[in-house]
Amino acid sequence: MNVARARADFPALRPRSGRSRVAYLDSACMSLVPESVLRAMEEYYSDYPGCAGRSLHRFSEEVSRRYDAARSAFAEFVGTNAPEHVVFLRNATEAINLVASGLDWKKGDRVLVSDQEHNSNLVVWQRLRRERGIRLEILPLSADGSWDAEVLERALSRRIRLVSLFHTSNLDGRSLPIREIAERAHDRGAQTLFDGCQAAPHRPVNFDRLGTDFYALSAHKMLGPTGTGILVGTPQGLSGLRPLVIGGETVQWTTLTDHELRPPPYRFEAGLQNYGGIIGAHAGLRYLERIGLEAIESAQRELNRDVTKALSGLGRVHVLGPENPRDRPSIFGFTIDGIDPHDAALFLDEGWGVLVRSGMHCVHSWYERRGLTGSIRASFYLYNNRDDVTALVRGVRELLERLPSRPGGARPTPHRGQRAPKARVA
Ligand code: ALA
Repeated sequence: MNVARARADFPALRPRSGRSRVAYLDSACMSLVPESVLRAMEEYYSDYPGCAGRSLHRFSEEVSRRYDAARSAFAEFVGTNAPEHVVFLRNATEAINLVASGLDWKKGDRVLVSDQEHNSNLVVWQRLRRERGIRLEILPLSADGSWDAEVLERALSRRIRLVSLFHTSNLDGRSLPIREIAERAHDRGAQTLFDGCQAAPHRPVNFDRLGTDFYALSAHKMLGPTGTGILVGTPQGLSGLRPLVIGGETVQWTTLTDHELRPPPYRFEAGLQNYGGIIGAHAGLRYLERIGLEAIESAQRELNRDVTKALSGLGRVHVLGPENPRDRPSIFGFTIDGIDPHDAALFLDEGWGVLVRSGMHCVHSWYERRGLTGSIRASFYLYNNRDDVTALVRGVRELLERLPSRPGGARPTPHRGQRAPKARVA
């Protein structure tokens, strides 16, 4: 894979006068978009701006064709044999909400989530517990990323209705053996939903072979524009869901007193859709396929290995999750004794042009139980290279040099006027 060439395709990384080089290490939050994605979206608005599946004129026909092509491409990308298994939504959060609000819950039904879930896969279940009387069971995960099937089996013995887990953690980059989990869950009569946001951008997913009922992902973490994502479901899974939103395009027919819903996935896509965004996301997929996920993951693994080697041995730096970067290829999460993660992130940005995410990464529950104020996260994607890693390593080293020898001392200041740390915990 030629990273140097890939970088040139991303306008956000191009040199700008008055701005120093940027090492974008926040792709787990959202990836950057290549020129081809911007072009595809612009083409939609300038060449054939129409509504899919409604009017019969040429713009509408063209957008319908492209929207269908995008659905087929996503189906192929996630390894399912029918485009109808793919529902276009705004993001994985919406996909999880669709499953949560769409299943016919009975009081006492149990949902199993891990103790390291993103808020997208936690808050919605807490609300169902309050409003519908479901029970929320927690699967404890090890700190080092190791997997214990016995712990899962014990949890499954509590008659779980739905197992809802991340595929790859946004916090420390570990992955769960979701094929095994789906098999064990199904043996016990539970359905499964996996949040593939941090996995699908980096490694091939084969939905049909995984055997899960549902799989969610956000396309804006895989070169697509913001506000694009999908839910993939089996035919039985999708037909068992009540749509979250209904209206135009979701029905076969209506009278003044009744309506009949269209089959999935159309019943879940109410109103005028984000055609430009989905067409852009399709261009993002094409870009990824040209480079190849295997090549992307292996390049990231090397970068992560270098960062881990350079930083993990330094006193005061603690790496989150699996020790071996091979087991968390896209993410290097860490804390530094004696400095708030937000202050560290500001220092790295201001002083070194290194853009990382800091705080609790929408997994407040995990930090809260450990009494931590957050962590710093560098996440890698196909446009990152050794210069990015060097900038991160040098930045952290400088930060450590400037820290007072005892944790809790004065905050270090960056080279060029520090912005006030923001009051936020996200
Ligand atoms: N879940 C995304 C992240 O971890 C937003 O940054």
